[in-house]
Amino acid sequence: MQGPMVLLCLGLLTTSCISQDLGTEQEPANPDADNTGGAEEEEDPFYKVPANKLAASISNFGYNLYRQRSSQRPTDNVLLSPFSVATALSALSLGAGERTETLITRALFYDLLDKAEVHSTYRGLLASLVAPAKGLKSASRLVMERRLRMKMGFVSELEKSYGFRPRVLTGNPRVDLQETNNWVQQQTNGKVIRFLREIPDGISILLLGAAYFKGKWLTRFDSKLTRPQNFHLDEDRTVSIPMMTGSNALVKYGFDSELNCKIAQLPLEGSVSALFFLPQSVTQNMTLIEESLTSEFVHDINKQLKTICVDLRMPRLKLASEVALADTLKEMRLQALFETPDFSKIAAKAIKVSHVQHKASLEMNEDGVGSVPPPRAAETPCPSFHIDYHLDRPFLLVVQDSETGALLFIGKILDPRST
Ligand SMILES: *[C@@H]1O[C@H](CO)[C@@H](O)[C@H](O)[C@H]1NC(C)=O
Repeated sequence: MQGPMVLLCLGLLTTSCISQDLGTEQEPANPDADNTGGAEEEEDPFYKVPANKLAASISNFGYNLYRQRSSQRPTDNVLLSPFSVATALSALSLGAGERTETLITRALFYDLLDKAEVHSTYRGLLASLVAPAKGLKSASRLVMERRLRMKMGFVSELEKSYGFRPRVLTGNPRVDLQETNNWVQQQTNGKVIRFLREIPDGISILLLGAAYFKGKWLTRFDSKLTRPQNFHLDEDRTVSIPMMTGSNALVKYGFDSELNCKIAQLPLEGSVSALFFLPQSVTQNMTLIEESLTSEFVHDINKQLKTICVDLRMPRLKLASEVALADTLKEMRLQALFETPDFSKIAAKAIKVSHVQHKASLEMNEDGVGSVPPPRAAETPCPSFHIDYHLDRPFLLVVQDSETGALLFIGKILDPRST
């Protein structure tokens, strides 16, 4: 009867014990996160590194973006790479007058950062996250209305810190569509194609964010073990999907009794990891888990998970999502960007954000760098009882960069067959 005891010990992973460990009374779950960070962040040396602190800020924007989008689409999959949207917004802030800059920097939680360093730190963070080993392709751009005369200072500063030039539309829809899509395709090494179906009417400023992720597990799955298995969409409906299997898989694991979910983390190549939140019961309602998600909460979870041996089953995933996020951003206290913002550093003419377009795709299959089973398994014999970790019902997925804590992708997978 050792099995239940192990579960009990892992049950110590609760939100209250996380905040005790940090020695603060601050609640980790803070969806609005107006005061995310603050004093208790300073205590963790991890956040002394400017890139990590910046990553925490823009990832908190990312969790907010995700929550907003998810609440708008309660019964659909959600897949976002908020980093690419944050990059476009951060770049846009270079062209904003004070009132508008404040608006953007609040949404991105830059008020906690050293303002003078933000853009140069961003440049370094961006370069490290799109390093080929991490498997992330991310492209962000500002597309400007037809024949806009932009100020040179803005263009050169943007290029210096974010490595791209804004694109001014020619007014020829065919040429503009082709150029925009070719640029995205080239920036993502051919992984994101046909970014726009057409050039929308009435563009003043279009924020563009495109991303693709395909990681390689540190221990690959044996594809011979992948076979159709049931996935419970809800209490009543079940579908058969290709499920990858790892018996005796070493994962970092914990049970969060407050969120009533099993959390597992699997490492990927390039210091990236995938974090799964699996509710105990079959439910499409992830509100409780979603509301806890902050950079600090995820950082603490990573520290508290314990390496154990599980019987792992995971759907083979190939998901894509194409979304217009203007309405989502408007709900995130960024409404003014779409009305009468001050972008006087970009151009003399009054311009505003008119469109926010995001396309994200993600693949998770058996591919990995290591052998099957991992060499470590020989030294760490798995106990005779097993803990099952079967992603056979709706779950949340967080792909993060372990070095900086940056949120690369986030998904609510209600149906692994589609987006
Ligand atoms: C989802 O769960 C939360 C609390 O767990 C509850 O407040 C909310 O009403 C639920 N939403 C739906 C749509 O059932």
